[in-house]
Amino acid sequence: MAHYYFFLCILLTFSLSFYGISAVNYQVINLAEKTPGGIRFTKEIGIPFTKTLMGTINNYVWNTILQQSDPADRKPVPTMTIYIMEYKGAEAIAWGDNINVSSVYLQGYQGNLKWQFTSLLYHEITHVFQWDGEGKAPTGLVEGVADYTKLKANYAQVGYAKAGTGNKWDQGYDFTARFLDYCDGITPGFVGKLNKKMRKTFDVKFFQELTGKPVDTLWKNYKAKYGNIKHGDEITEFVN
Ligand SMILES: *[C@@H]1O[C@H](CO)[C@@H](O)[C@H](O)[C@H]1NC(C)=O
Ligand SMILES: [Zn+2]
Repeated sequence: MAHYYFFLCILLTFSLSFYGISAVNYQVINLAEKTPGGIRFTKEIGIPFTKTLMGTINNYVWNTILQQSDPADRKPVPTMTIYIMEYKGAEAIAWGDNINVSSVYLQGYQGNLKWQFTSLLYHEITHVFQWDGEGKAPTGLVEGVADYTKLKANYAQVGYAKAGTGNKWDQGYDFTARFLDYCDGITPGFVGKLNKKMRKTFDVKFFQELTGKPVDTLWKNYKAKYGNIKHGDEITEFVN
């Protein structure tokens, strides 16, 4: 009997520490509760919905985008906090394990706020969990990976770049995301594999290591595939 309890104890301790490795605490703090944007947040989105969404997106990023089934590959994030804050400027900004969302932006958004907030969080939460080569990766690529998540999750907003548009691979955001999607067609799981290489550093040769072709050749082939659309030729339908 004593042996049995001992074994149970070991098992419990082991499983608790196992879950402790990858479980992230989700926290949402509305610092703008009394402002029009903060009130709109409570009414149309709310803290419970946001916490559930954080879990959904976190798992989507780990499993589908970065393909980190081994917890040792994941960026350790004990707590991720979202602050709803009154400030003018970027709609949202990721910093460390946290994200600030502008209540001024939420207040002024015309359309389905819950959908737009979800789309925004697919981008920002990717920043929390992606590797950036300890700051050595080009900003355009880091932003491209974040927008790639949005694209794959079917949360690309109206006006999101069409495939084949843009004038360089690291232009950023939706332009780079479309190019990464092309690379994924050549090497399945490309973004996850590239992210893994970007843990400590960045080298443009990573593209060649993963696809067999240098990034400039990939970009040329990508542009050719879509008929060499020149920047400015593409049909844009920006609404915001
Ligand atoms: C985000 O909001 C927090 C809390 O108000 C603040 O301390 C922090 O400086 C802000 N971060 C950025 C990058 O603006
Ligand atoms: Zn970003």
